[in-house]
Amino acid sequence: MATLRTDPEQSRRAPKLRSVVVGTGSSLPARVVTNAALAERVDTSDEWIVQRTGIRQRHIADESETTSVLGTQAARAALQDAGLTADDIDLVICATSTPDHTFPSTATQIQAGLGIHQGAAFDLQAVCAGFVFAVSTADKFLTTGAARRALVVGAETFSRIVDWEDRTTCVLFGDGAGAIVLEAQEAQEAAEGRGVLSTSLRSDGRHREKLYVDGGPGSTGTTGRLRMEGRDVFRFAVGQVTDVIVEAFEQAGTTAEDLDWFVPHQANRRIIEASADKLGIARDKIVLTVDRHGNTSAASIPLALDVARRDGRIQAGDLVMIEAIGGGFSWGAALIRW
Ligand SMILES: CC(C)(COP(=O)(O)OP(=O)(O)OC[C@H]1O[C@@H](n2cnc3c(N)ncnc32)[C@H](O)[C@@H]1OP(=O)(O)O)[C@@H](O)C(=O)NCCC(=O)NCCS
Repeated sequence: MATLRTDPEQSRRAPKLRSVVVGTGSSLPARVVTNAALAERVDTSDEWIVQRTGIRQRHIADESETTSVLGTQAARAALQDAGLTADDIDLVICATSTPDHTFPSTATQIQAGLGIHQGAAFDLQAVCAGFVFAVSTADKFLTTGAARRALVVGAETFSRIVDWEDRTTCVLFGDGAGAIVLEAQEAQEAAEGRGVLSTSLRSDGRHREKLYVDGGPGSTGTTGRLRMEGRDVFRFAVGQVTDVIVEAFEQAGTTAEDLDWFVPHQANRRIIEASADKLGIARDKIVLTVDRHGNTSAASIPLALDVARRDGRIQAGDLVMIEAIGGGFSWGAALIRW
């Protein structure tokens, strides 16, 4: 049975590798909840939500649509898209903050659901930045030769942890899952070659109180509910998050002008557009799905990638920047030649 290991001798001799995206997939719960429907439940309005966030609707999971169910569907679609089978995958990373259970990991449930019996599977928790952290982590496994093909999944059911009495947060979030398959391929020339070109990750735990869940197995013994200082998060997101993007561009020797698609975490249209403006990224390069999906945390980027690839916007050879910030704070960016 294959295991994950790094052999330093082999790594030295091996050709230089890049992690290339070879498939994408996604899954959304069947039920769509519009702003108007939410307004029947809490004191809010379609106009307020659209104006402040750009969100028009979100998908909300029913009891049977757990994080692992949505994640498995998205991962299966990504495998199919790549023309691969369960035997081809030796690493599954699932970014989530809403696992079905405290343990085992959602990734192992996705692994079992797909019939993958080799390699390793684990969850990664960096809240809304989770998918970027997972891509960066998978990239380390693939480029060191420790794994050959990775399923990188972002899957969430934030509807389970929002406080449905709190209008300042419950209108923002939705459920869903997205996945990509990354494959280790021999690196082609510099920034023109396909694959993950650079990643930049940051965390600063001093901001815990700005965005957190007020429970957990090691404290209250309950799941808890999401709490947020919305205005502070907004300020931090626009003011701070651009550092990782600038670093990712610099590492790859590219600039915002070279970019084809900006696929940020889909939290809020105003945050996304303000960040793009600050970075000199043209607004027509932004992939925006927050209007349809709301904030699906770690799932938002792979969901948006799948939408833009299937509708023909993202093409092979395009330069794509993904970027996210979430609770912690944790934030990161990855530059990918598609
Ligand atoms: C949450 C957010 C949309 C609120 O927008 P804002 O312009 O900062 O609004 P404020 O919090 O200042 O609230 C303005 C008013 O709207 C009210 N309000 C809050 N939520 C409301 C809602 N859903 N419907 C109607 N009114 C609402 C507030 O009570 C406040 O009323 P007041 O002036 O009478 O006190 C905004 O702060 C934001 O997007 N923050 C980032 C959140 C985020 O993306 N988090 C996830 C990061 S991963």
